[in-house]
Amino acid sequence: MRRVDPGAGFESWRKAARSLLAEGVAPGDVLWEAERTGSLFGEEETSSIATAVKLVVPPAFMELAKEVACHGNSRRWALLYRLLWRIARLNERSLLEIASDPDVARARLMAKNVRREIHKMHAFVRFRKIGENEEGRERFVAWFEPDHGCVDMAVPFFCKRFANMDWSIFTPKGCAHWIGGELNFTPGVEKNPCEDPDALEAIWRTYYRSIFNPARLKLKMMQAEMPKRYWKNLPEADLIGELTRSSASRTQEMIAEEGRAVRRAPNNGYLGHLQELSAAPVVKEPQDASLEEIARMIQACRHCPLWENATCAVTGEGPADARIMIVGEQPGDREDLEGRPFVGPAGQLLDRALKEAGLDRSSAYVTNAVKHFKWTPRGKLRLHQKPGAGEIEACKPWLLAELSKVAPDVLILLGGTAARSLLGPGVQVSRARGLVEVPHLAKRVVLTVHPSYLLRLPDEMRKEAEFRNFVKDLRLALA
Ligand code: URA
Repeated sequence: MRRVDPGAGFESWRKAARSLLAEGVAPGDVLWEAERTGSLFGEEETSSIATAVKLVVPPAFMELAKEVACHGNSRRWALLYRLLWRIARLNERSLLEIASDPDVARARLMAKNVRREIHKMHAFVRFRKIGENEEGRERFVAWFEPDHGCVDMAVPFFCKRFANMDWSIFTPKGCAHWIGGELNFTPGVEKNPCEDPDALEAIWRTYYRSIFNPARLKLKMMQAEMPKRYWKNLPEADLIGELTRSSASRTQEMIAEEGRAVRRAPNNGYLGHLQELSAAPVVKEPQDASLEEIARMIQACRHCPLWENATCAVTGEGPADARIMIVGEQPGDREDLEGRPFVGPAGQLLDRALKEAGLDRSSAYVTNAVKHFKWTPRGKLRLHQKPGAGEIEACKPWLLAELSKVAPDVLILLGGTAARSLLGPGVQVSRARGLVEVPHLAKRVVLTVHPSYLLRLPDEMRKEAEFRNFVKDLRLALA
């Protein structure tokens, strides 16, 4: 019987499995034993010839195996090796298509559990602000206890969605840190450190150690940023000396580690990291929050399912003291990718109309009734779908929060969705178009068509005429 340690995850298991397969070790002769000390490949060393064998397996197996590898069940490695053996050695090339096969069924169920856990992590991770770095980027922490080791697979979602924030997600199965646009992992932690400054500091030290790149250590610059006498107050101050002393040898070590990507130190400045660790108030209720805080809350919003398929929430843009606020429907494809309202074709048409009306867009606060892009796939395209009543209602508190913060004199509502959100379900744009009497919203409220409506008109003359009417409505806002 061959005893084999699968190592820490999919990659190490794959390496071991490839060697075993090349040597012709049948699944029944392997005992996968995790966390044994000693050689990765157990008592019998695997030969380098065997390790060098290149295996071609269907991509579907690789995808399935990556998910199964995250499962908490200790028998996953044996199951995966059995599948691999059957596909590669017994030539059962279509094995994965046989849903009734017990091995396939078990693996698929495990993969499903892992995907569900990833989904839960996306839905339930809640960030808490702990400070800001010197460039003004906010720093957040979150705690999550996944049933499976799916942190690596779950984090790309957060990197994309919260690209402009710095954050750490702590879990017992591994921690992920997105700092200065760079992702790093540290080992799992047993307890939630988010409420405990000491625990956070300890983890921070581990993190700092793991990302430390001696080749970039610039003592002079650090001293310039913060005189040395203050270093004693820093949580990881004692690490500086230690890491500096070992800097030369660490540099050599790192150069010697051929092929290993040298991780860059975070680029948001040394002091920024320290400031991020200082305690800061937890987010407030929307009505008490600043526009920035509201925007952050919107990013974390799970009031309706639209966030799941969107790249990010698109929040309002413009001066906090704008006299004019413009409300559209929801972000489109371009807005969803760029994270800014009205930057696609409808936005270009709106810009043109505003200019003709004598309105400067940069002085207005531009936002949407619904903050996430609702779409359906059509081939490679993402086709816009109108938000439903539930989604409009779910987003309404955010729109009201923006409205009460900006408190504009003039409110311009573009199209039926904005009208439904702020004026109620019975209001039709074609009937109520123009000035509307709703003093609790703003001194002057103008309801008009949505620019997308103009874009969709097939007849050029009609389009031009409707564009003129649109400009006229916008002028009403200025009257
Ligand atoms: N349509 C909208 O209503 N809002 C946008 O941001 C873009 C298109």
